[in-house]
Amino acid sequence: PAAPLIDPFARAIRYLRVSVTDRCDFRCVYCMSEKMQFLPKKELLTLEELDRLCSSFIRLGVEKLRITGGEPLVRRNIMEFFRGMTRHLDSGALKELTLTTNGSQLGKYAEELHAAGVRRVNVSLDTLDEEKFARVTRWGRLPQVLDGIDAARAAGLKVKINTVALKGFNEDELFTLTEFCAARDMDLTFIEVMPMGDIGNEDRIGQYWNLMDLRHSLGERYSLHDLPDRTGGPARYVMLGETRQRIGFITPMSHNFCESCNRVRVTCTGEIYTCLGQEGHSDLRGPLRESESDAGLERAIRAAIAIKPKGHDFDYDRQEVSGRVSRHMSHTGG
Ligand code: GTP
Ligand code: 5AD
Ligand code: SF4
Repeated sequence: PAAPLIDPFARAIRYLRVSVTDRCDFRCVYCMSEKMQFLPKKELLTLEELDRLCSSFIRLGVEKLRITGGEPLVRRNIMEFFRGMTRHLDSGALKELTLTTNGSQLGKYAEELHAAGVRRVNVSLDTLDEEKFARVTRWGRLPQVLDGIDAARAAGLKVKINTVALKGFNEDELFTLTEFCAARDMDLTFIEVMPMGDIGNEDRIGQYWNLMDLRHSLGERYSLHDLPDRTGGPARYVMLGETRQRIGFITPMSHNFCESCNRVRVTCTGEIYTCLGQEGHSDLRGPLRESESDAGLERAIRAAIAIKPKGHDFDYDRQEVSGRVSRHMSHTGG
C-alpha cells in the first residue's frame, strides 16, 4: 500500500471533507453571503472526477469521507456518487462515508443514503423556533428540516445535530435543544462561531458564545461526564448522567484543537484547503484533468499536505477579530 499522508507536524491525514457543490437552498447568515454568486457548472468537478479524487485519497490512507457543500444533496445526481463510494466501504478501505447537510432534502434521499452505506448524518439546526429558523437561514422552513430528520431516523441513519452557539440568538434554547435531541436519541454538538467570510455588518464578537460558558450552564442542570474521542472529528464529548445523552463541543475559539488535526478539505472546483482557518490552498483539478493516470494527482495531494499549516489564527481577543479568513464557510463546507 501507498505511504500514508503525514503533514509537517507529524499529523496523519485520514479524514477528507469534500464539498460537492457551492449551491445551497438556504443562506445561513454566518456561512454564506446573501449575494452569493454561484459558479458556472463547467467549473465544477464532474461526478467521475469526484470519484477519482476520493479514490486517490482513499488509496493514500483516508478512512473517513464526509461529503459537504453548500448543501450536498442539491447537487444533481449526487446519489450516483454515493453509490460509487460504496465499493470502498465494501473493500474495508473506507471506514465511514457520511455527510453534513441542512436536512432539507433528507426526506427525499435518506433511504438511498442508507442503501449506499451511509450510517450517520450530521444535520445543522440552530433553533427550534420557526421564525428564528427563517431568520438565520434567511428563508428556510423549519418543518421541512424536522421532517428530513424524521425521515433519516426512519431510514436507520444515526443523526447528530450541529448547532452554532450564538449569543442573543439561541442561548435561550440550550435546554429545549438538548431535550429535543434526547427524545430522539440524537447527539447534539455545539460549535463556536468562527470569523470567516464577509462579516462586515455582523457582530461576531457580540454573537460569540464561549462553549465553556455553555458547558457551565449545562452543568447546572445535568451532571457531565467527559468521554474519549469517538469520531475522529474535532468535537469533544460529555455524557449527561441523567439521560445518558451525548453533547459535543467544537471549540476552535476557546480551545484550539489543531494539534490533533487529521483532516483536509477539497472544494467543488478541486481546490484543496489543508487548513480551514487559513487562506492557502492548492489546485487538484489541473492534475486531475491533465492525465488519465492518478500519479500526478497523488503527487499534487502529497505536495499540498507537505505544506499544511500548523493551525488557524482565529481570535476574538480584546474585542477585536483577528486571523479571520475572507472566504465563507460555505466554500469548503466547514
Ligand atoms: P463527526 O464525524 O460527527 O465528528 O463530524 P465533524 O465534526 O468532523 O464534522 P461536521 O461537518 O459536523 O463539522 C462540525 C463543525 O466543525 C463545522 O462547523 C466545521 O466547520 C467545524 N470543523 C470541522 N473540522 C474543523 C477543523 O478542522 N477546524 C475547525 N476550526 N473547525 C472544524
Ligand atoms: N462558524 C462556525 N460554524 C459554522 N458553520 C457554518 N458557518 C460557520 C461559522 N462561521 C457550520 C454550519 C454547519 C457546519 C458545516 O458548519 O452550521 O453545521
Ligand atoms: Fe486543522 Fe486547521 Fe482546523 Fe486547526 S483550523 S483543526 S489545523 S483544519
